[in-house]
Amino acid sequence: MADKVYRASTTAPVNIAVVKYWGKRDATLNLPTNSSLSVTLAQSDLRTLTTASCSASYPASEGDWLLLNGEPSDVSGARVQACFRELRARRAALEAADPSLPKLSTMPLHIVSENNFPTAAGLASSAAGFAALVRAIADLYELPASPSELSLIARQGSGSACRSLFGGYVAWRMGGKADGSDSMADQVAEASHWPEMRALVLVASAAKKGVSSTSGMQQTVATSSLFQERIERVVPQNMAVMEKAIQDRDFAPFAEVTMRDSNSFHATCADTYPPIFYMNDVSRAAIRAVEQINAAAGRTVAAYTFDAGPNAVIYYLEKDTELVVGTFYHVLGGEIDGWKNDAVKGLKPTTSLDGGVASLLKGGVSRVIMTGVGPGPQKADEHLVAEDGTPVRR
Ligand code: ADP
Ligand code: DP6
Repeated sequence: MADKVYRASTTAPVNIAVVKYWGKRDATLNLPTNSSLSVTLAQSDLRTLTTASCSASYPASEGDWLLLNGEPSDVSGARVQACFRELRARRAALEAADPSLPKLSTMPLHIVSENNFPTAAGLASSAAGFAALVRAIADLYELPASPSELSLIARQGSGSACRSLFGGYVAWRMGGKADGSDSMADQVAEASHWPEMRALVLVASAAKKGVSSTSGMQQTVATSSLFQERIERVVPQNMAVMEKAIQDRDFAPFAEVTMRDSNSFHATCADTYPPIFYMNDVSRAAIRAVEQINAAAGRTVAAYTFDAGPNAVIYYLEKDTELVVGTFYHVLGGEIDGWKNDAVKGLKPTTSLDGGVASLLKGGVSRVIMTGVGPGPQKADEHLVAEDGTPVRR
């Protein structure tokens, strides 16, 4: 059937690093200067849904295309092209070995994707987006590739995306080879190993960010001397302590490394010349709030971390929901979006935050996301491309 439309759909999660990737040793292959480690977040709250399709009936003149959140998205960039090229090459090898297979590698790709949260707002849409793109095309092509092998491809789309091919607790090993063949992700532990991990995201700004991570990290590598200390000493030590904390389900060291690593990353941004500032007054108020919550509890119950933007991600364990979420809920008020009624109902305000901190948070946090550790990409039955090849309108 020359007009048959082949389709595969997948969802993919966001991940938030607790040991940050910041710095490239090879910008073309997207090879990092250090290993990193992240927690994959539940897809009920933050996810990409992507359908990859191909057909001999798709006009060759249109080439490959991607529709992202209903809008055409440029696929001519080197990153998307690298993903397409690698996946097609693997499919072509299967077709060469078994001539009875349909020649999907020669057909144009039409991809339709939706993020159920703001794109390019510092909520790791690129991680979920590239992980979903790679997984969906790999499924379309029926590639026998493991998630680690696919992570090699997703890495070339966006570094942090390689960690979104797994659920739970995920490491991206920097590797040492010049061709990047050993720079890939693996799973440190399943979500079910430590399922009590929760994350409260304080959205301080849903606007597009200032300095992109790609260019920010290149400026840091080129100009910061503190950065050398980070990649040579700080990160290797943080990786070791973090992996053990996860294996032992030990929140105190998990939290301390998370906070120290975020601080170390933002210190290298401040040491970049000219300096880069991702955190703002609201972000710093969130840091103080976490310190006050931990001090009042007499133990570490919450850990903050910040990516290349002002939003705070606060990790905590389910049993400490009242201490952590209760405090933020009463400061921020129930009017803002994102509270899960079942989870906040009846929570008491356990810590009273110092006045300045409370008013900065109240004035600057526009929305929260309540989520937790979750699984990796899932095959989806819902297709964003209809059987006749047209995009599905929703
Ligand atoms: P974020 O902080 O959300 O990761 P970035 O600016 O780093 O923002 O990345 C946003 C870019 O990631 C988008 O412009 C797009 O190129 C890519 N992206 C986001 N979502 C998807 C998706 N669902 N499918 C493919 N690419 C995506
Ligand atoms: C601060 O993965 O967005 O979120 O590889 O250039 O696409 P590119 O960068 P990207 O950088 C993420 C940086 C970070 C830390 C992290 O997720 O580890």
